[in-house]
Amino acid sequence: MSDAPLWTPDSLEEATGGRLIGAPRAVTGASIDTRSLEPGDLFFAIRGEARDGHDFVPAALEKGAGAAVVAASRAAEFERNGPVLAVPEEGEDPVLEAMRRLGLAARARTGAAIVAVTGSVGKTGTKEALRHVLSAQGATHASVASYNNHWGVPLTLARMPAESRFGVFEIGMNHGAEILPLTAMVRPDVALITTVEPVHIEHFRSLSAIADAKGEIFSGLKPGGVAVINRDNPNYERMLAHAHASRAGRIITFGEHAAADVRANRILTRPDVSVVDATVMGVPVTYQLGTPGRHVAMNSLGVLACIHALGADLARAALSLAGLKPPVGRGERTALRIEQGAGEAEAFLIDESYNANPASIRAALATLAGIETGAKGRHIAVLGDMKELGAAGEALHRELAEAVAANGIDLVFAVGPLMAHLFEALPMAVRGAAGLTAADVTDAVLATLRPGDAVMVKGSNSMRMVRIVEAVKARYAVAPDPREASLNAVR
Ligand SMILES: Nc1ncnc2c1ncn2[C@@H]1O[C@H](COP(=O)(O)OP(=O)(O)OP(=O)(O)O)[C@@H](O)[C@H]1O
Ligand SMILES: [Mg+2]
Repeated sequence: MSDAPLWTPDSLEEATGGRLIGAPRAVTGASIDTRSLEPGDLFFAIRGEARDGHDFVPAALEKGAGAAVVAASRAAEFERNGPVLAVPEEGEDPVLEAMRRLGLAARARTGAAIVAVTGSVGKTGTKEALRHVLSAQGATHASVASYNNHWGVPLTLARMPAESRFGVFEIGMNHGAEILPLTAMVRPDVALITTVEPVHIEHFRSLSAIADAKGEIFSGLKPGGVAVINRDNPNYERMLAHAHASRAGRIITFGEHAAADVRANRILTRPDVSVVDATVMGVPVTYQLGTPGRHVAMNSLGVLACIHALGADLARAALSLAGLKPPVGRGERTALRIEQGAGEAEAFLIDESYNANPASIRAALATLAGIETGAKGRHIAVLGDMKELGAAGEALHRELAEAVAANGIDLVFAVGPLMAHLFEALPMAVRGAAGLTAADVTDAVLATLRPGDAVMVKGSNSMRMVRIVEAVKARYAVAPDPREASLNAVR
């Protein structure tokens, strides 16, 4: 990438309709959060849930922000702190409006081929897989973490260097009609729906209503663009209808279905890798995946469909997938060493603490079951509440008992009032301990671990199941985790 500034003073004023006041500094990035702001970042003082970004303008400029984007009516307050871009008073949040306009300008000026990823689960994993694969083939710009909403998408656009060759955008939603304005802004060349599952179901009447909301992503496709959909999903037809109704020039399907364009003929799941024997648009491709789990293999088919749609190098992409590592909190493995009696032996921790919903817990239980345990080792699941399920919550927790049994999980620890319903539905022999918070069961989990065990920790992010992961690592991890420091940054 060149050393050219991300935005020149002129381009900033032109794109946002704002006016720069003060001595300009070089703008090399964009930020909405002073905690992660880097010198040179354009600081957007958008309104948050609790605080107004304008409260943080002096701190941002102190940290070396390239300029602070503020509402025109507030500009005078900050002029002595450093350069400000005073933007017109428009809409509910003028600064957010300005960020959107800058995002649109970023989209308009780039020649990059753009992929947008949505879906009930697997957006970040798929986005990171695309980033990983495409980075080996050209300058790739991608969303950070799960920056997939009304501010995450325009921020990611505003950060995109003009000379990017590829752009990968995560687009999410909690309600219908949220994806429409985001995909219109991103104008993807290729749009992918990973899968449709009961996630955020409290805001929807039915699964097909969720499929309709995901299907919105195709409305933003550039004319002649490519819609990529999951052939195996029960809502396939529904997604297909949205693709047909869009300006897509082509539809590519992926899955195990015999008619899928990108098809898995065989998936071999191993404890730490998978091997996928696939057919991509009629061409046989066998590849290794560096992140285990059947669900990751399914997502990888969508990745290869996008690679094909982008006209990127499929063979190189397939080779790159061997080096794919799980994003933080989504399946990372840590080797543990547990002393017992005279000796000590290995055990395994799987950190799935980033989030949880019925689909991803089932996937994680299946992945856990696929790990070979030691002679006396057990498969142990430590599960926290799944949030945002509304009235269906209790039943959806209880129903996990089938997946626990089907996967032969030996022991379950439950955290939270909802997961208590699963706990009560389990046979006595499978019940570890239950509590309302992660802290309530941490000691019991630590005490139960023995050589040969495989333990998986998962729950909605707000359940803070990561505390249990941290406690297990602190007590038993073989090597200190170098990524620990970055753990909280991306949650
Ligand atoms: N195809 C899939 N089927 C079931 N579970 C999946 C699938 N893909 C990913 N998962 C699991 O879902 C969880 C969330 O994954 P990821 O963070 O990639 O999803 P996301 O859609 O970005 O979520 P968010 O809405 O929080 O941004 C992880 O536990 C992951 O292992
Ligand atoms: Mg995400």
